[in-house]
This record gives sequence, structure tokens and C-alpha cells, in this order.
Amino acid sequence: MRYPGWRLLLFLSAASAPCYWLYLGAIAALGPDPGKVLVDNLGQGALVLLLCSLAMTPLQRLTSWSGWIAFRRQLGLWSFSYAVLHLTAYLYFLLGLDFTSFTLELIDRPYMAVGAIALLGLLVLAVTSNRWSMRKLGKRWKKLHRIVYPVLLVVLLHMLWVVRADAGRWAIYAAIAAALLLVRLPSIERKLSCLQGKAGAK
Ligand code: HEM
Repeated sequence: MRYPGWRLLLFLSAASAPCYWLYLGAIAALGPDPGKVLVDNLGQGALVLLLCSLAMTPLQRLTSWSGWIAFRRQLGLWSFSYAVLHLTAYLYFLLGLDFTSFTLELIDRPYMAVGAIALLGLLVLAVTSNRWSMRKLGKRWKKLHRIVYPVLLVVLLHMLWVVRADAGRWAIYAAIAAALLLVRLPSIERKLSCLQGKAGAK
């Protein structure tokens, strides 16, 4: 074989061409502003996954099935991954990787700074979600992971700032978040465990 490098390049180009067409097709299908559609949907994806991860503990209490807890960490990590993709899509599609504009936007637009705070919170939760951190932090781990609630509120504030006039979708997310926060209040948690105990005794 005289030019194995060229052959490999040709082979890879031929093999990846359909992926490129797929990519172009997908971008065209997203409408005149594909970057914005991607950024918005990835942001919403991160929020939905965060809400799902917060629903796991109440579901475990309600059903007495500990299996839910195994999903909690995975869903939290997926939420963080989607939030990183949301930021990456914003930097790539809307800012053309112009980091100077990004820094200026962070200073000029409070909703961006609020998003960055939420992302930092999710980062802290993601890097300390492993068994090693749990062992090292001991009782402090639970306390630290309670920051997920303020993080959720900060994400909702970030979204409200963006959608302002069209707050219908936001109101649905906020109502679900409020319900999830309510069922974690100690007094309501106690009442729910009492009800569960009675149901179990019947
Ligand atoms: C540095 C961090 C972040 C930046 C720079 C950022 C930036 C943005 C921008 C520019 C938009 C509006 C896009 C548009 O014009 O429509 C947006 C919307 C949004 N972001 Fe973020 N964001 C960040 C973090 C987050 C995080 C951590 C979450 C959730 C976990 C999140 C969830 C959302 C949601 C739900 C929307 C509204 C989407 C919609 O209108 O449907 N963002 N963000």
C-alpha cells in the first residue's frame, strides 16, 4: 500500500459524509435560527432533568422502593451535561466562540450571570456526587447537596428573565418545582411518612 494515510482519510471522509448531510438537514429543520432553538431546548432539557432528579426522593418515600435513588444521581449528572451543552451551543452558535463578547454579556446581562451561578452550583453537585466525596464529606455531604434547591430557584429565575412575556411554560416548571420543594419541607415529609405508615399497616 503506497498511501495508507490518504486511503484512511478518504475512507473516513466517505464514511462520515452521511453524518455531515444529516447535520445539515437537522440544522435546516430547526428553522431560520437553529442556534437559538438548540440553546433553548438544551436549557429546557437541563431544567427538566433537574426536576426529574429532585422527584426521585419523594417517589422513594411514596412507594418505599429504594431503586429511585439510583436514578437520582444519574439524572443530576445528565442535567449538568445538558447545561454544559446549553452553554457550549450558546458560545458556538450564538457568539461564534467570541469569548470577549461572552465576558461582556456576563457583565451586561444579569440573566447570564444568574445562569453562570446555576451552572457553577450544578458543577459542585456533579463533582461531589461520587462515593469518594460522600465518604470524605461525611455528614457535610447531605448539607452541601441541599444547594440543589437554591440552584433550582436560580435556574427558574434565569429562565423567567429570558421568557418574560411568554411565561406560560415557565409557570408550569415553577409549579412543579414548588410542589417538589413543598414535599421536602420537614412538616410535610412527616405527614407523608405517617400516611405511608398507615397505608402499609392496612
Ligand atoms: C453560564 C451559564 C449559562 C448561560 C451563558 C446561559 C445562557 C442562556 C441564554 C443566552 C438563553 C436565552 C437564549 C435565547 O435567546 O432564547 C438561555 C435560556 C435558558 N437557559 Fe440558560 N444559560 C446558562 C446556564 C443555564 C443553566 C445551568 C440552566 C439549567 C439548568 C439553563 C436553562 C435555561 C433555560 C430553561 C432557558 C430558557 C429556554 C427557553 O426559552 O425555552 N441555563 N440561557
